[in-house]
Formats: sequence, C-alpha cells, structure tokens
Amino acid sequence: MGARIIMGIESSCDETGVGLVRLHDDGTVELLADAVASSVDQHARFGGVVPEVASRAHLEAMVPTTERAFADAGLRMSDVDAIAVTAGPGLAGALLVGVAAAKAYSAALDVPLYGVNHLAGHIAVDTLQHGPLPKPCLALLVSGGHTQLLRVDDVASTIVELGSTVDDAAGEAYDKVARVLGLPYPGGPPIDKAAKAGNPAAIAFPRGMTGPRDAKYDFSFSGLKTAVARWVEGAERRGEEIPVDDVAASFQEAVADVLTAKAIRAAKDAGIGTIVISGGVAANSRLSSLAQERCDKAGIELRVPRPRLCTDNGAMIAALGAHVVAAGAKPSSWDFAANPALP
Ligand code: KG4
Ligand code: ZN
Repeated sequence: MGARIIMGIESSCDETGVGLVRLHDDGTVELLADAVASSVDQHARFGGVVPEVASRAHLEAMVPTTERAFADAGLRMSDVDAIAVTAGPGLAGALLVGVAAAKAYSAALDVPLYGVNHLAGHIAVDTLQHGPLPKPCLALLVSGGHTQLLRVDDVASTIVELGSTVDDAAGEAYDKVARVLGLPYPGGPPIDKAAKAGNPAAIAFPRGMTGPRDAKYDFSFSGLKTAVARWVEGAERRGEEIPVDDVAASFQEAVADVLTAKAIRAAKDAGIGTIVISGGVAANSRLSSLAQERCDKAGIELRVPRPRLCTDNGAMIAALGAHVVAAGAKPSSWDFAANPALP
C-alpha cells in the first residue's frame, strides 16, 4: 500500500490546529507537522472562552495555519491521502469552521474525509510519542471541558466511559481557582508554577466523591473550588495576606490525589496494566509526578504525552485519523454535521 499522509484539523475550542502525520504500513504513526494558532489571548480578559470570538479567530487562522503545517512538513496539499476533522464535542460555531474547511479540502483534493471525536484524539496523540497503545488501556482524560476515566479497547473504535465529573471539569476548577487567587487565565500553568513554591499540606482541602457511598470512578471538583474560595474570603475578612503559593499547592494536591487514586483503582479493578493521561491538565507537573509514584507502586505503566501534545492541537486529530484509516473504517459522508454534544 505504501505510507499514507493524513491531515488532521482541530477547531473545537480556542485552538486552530492543523497536523500532518505519516501512517506507515506496520501501523505506526509518525508526526510530521503540528501547527497551532491560539485565540487564548483574546479570551483572557473575559476569564473564559467566548464562543463568537473563537469562531471568528478560527476563520482567520484556518488557511494560514494549514499553510504553516505543510511548510513545516515540506509537503504539498496534493500529498494528502485522507483528512480527519474534529466533529465534536465542542463549541458549535467553532466546530463548523473546521468541518467546513475539511470538507472543502477533501472535495478539492478528492480524498476521503473522516469526522472524528476530539476526546479520542486526546488519547490517540500519545501514539505519536510512545508508539501503539496496548489493548486495552485506561485513559484519564483531563481538560478544560472534560474529566473522564475511559477504558480504551481500541482508540479508533471502542472506548467505554467508566466515570466522569458530576460537575466541573478539572481544568475548569484550575481556571476558577486561579481567578480567586488573582492569577491569569488559563489558570493551570500559573497555579502549577505558584504551587512549586508552596506547601501542599498547608491547607486540608476536601477530596470530592471519595466517600464510601460515592460512585467509584466519578469525580467532583465544584466543592473543592468553593472550599478554596471560602478559605480565601475568610483570610481576606481577617485582613490576612493570602498565601497564594500554599493555597495553589494545597488545591493542586487535592486534584492530583483524587485523579490518580481513582485512575489506579479503575485500572486495578479492570486488570489493566497501562494508564494514559491526556488533555490540557495532563501538563500539570504534580499530576504526572504523583501518578508516576503511584503507578510505580502498583506496577502499572504510565504514559503521559509531552505538554505540547496534551493541549488541543491538530496532530492529535491526524493521529486519530491515521488509526481510523488503518482500521479500514468507512469515510464520513460529505454532508455529515458537526456535533457539539458528541458523546
Ligand atoms: O485540553 P485543553 O487544551 O482544552 C480543552 O479541550 O479544554 O485543556 C485546557 C485546560 C485549561 O483549563 C488549563 O487551565 C488546563 O488545561 N491546563 C493545566 C495546565 N496547563 C493547562 N492545568 C493544570 N496544570 C497545568 N500545567
Ligand atoms: Zn481538548
């Protein structure tokens, strides 16, 4: 058959991503280009992503980002053998821009088009760094919009949800706590940084959904977020200076503790030997160090893609597209619709 070039397009939130990968005959997938344009700066003053602003930014960035990806890879568009695009979940208007671009490219190049799931892309991206995923493996997906424990039998076709957050996503909790502490948006990176100078045992923040009657694999972060806000308000009322580093470290410890404990419990219960952590929050230094510590103790292999691959990008969609193509899946029809609520 010969190696095939797969193009991936991502536009579900505030990153416009175009990735290119090479699918080899043995099923391995090689990263060739990963061009990303972010509109995060345009959302920062609102403290969260503004859908209309994101859609407009995708429109402006799509063609230049595509051109950059091909230049980086040293390829021409006519080299492409198939196109994958995020069909959902995500912001409706944002998804539409990527889907429309993918359909136009697919028609112009006369290559098959695959609408794929953004969340599966977050898992598939790991294969670009660590090679094929063991079947099955357990995925802990932690981003700004999602927090899920998934059993991955085949990243291209069969993913079963074991648990998810009942309220806020982990990344959302980071963003909200950052705001309470007067740190910039998105909150993950500045909290991660502040926490390095703080004491994780300074404040005992609650671990949500860890009671004996709570669902084993579900998460809750809204109580933790509220506890942090109350603690900060209390200190302000007493006229005390807020120990931002200690609050950040203690909050971060609570998040990492619950995420890793539940992921390892799920892997052990299911007899799964590999955990993959992905999504924007996987870039968190304490999450990966605690996960490594606990996986070592449990005899479980841990895979965490490098931070650049964890946050939204086009390479993750190209990687997933390559696995879908390799599996011999049927292409999407040209009139398939973006689905903001894709499960
Ligand atoms: O996967 P992603 O880029 O976009 C979504 O699909 O949501 O994730 C973004 C989220 C944001 O909430 C951001 O604060 C968080 O990932 N994040 C982090 C870190 N870097 C990004 N959270 C904790 N620690 C980090 N180092
Ligand atoms: Zn994402």
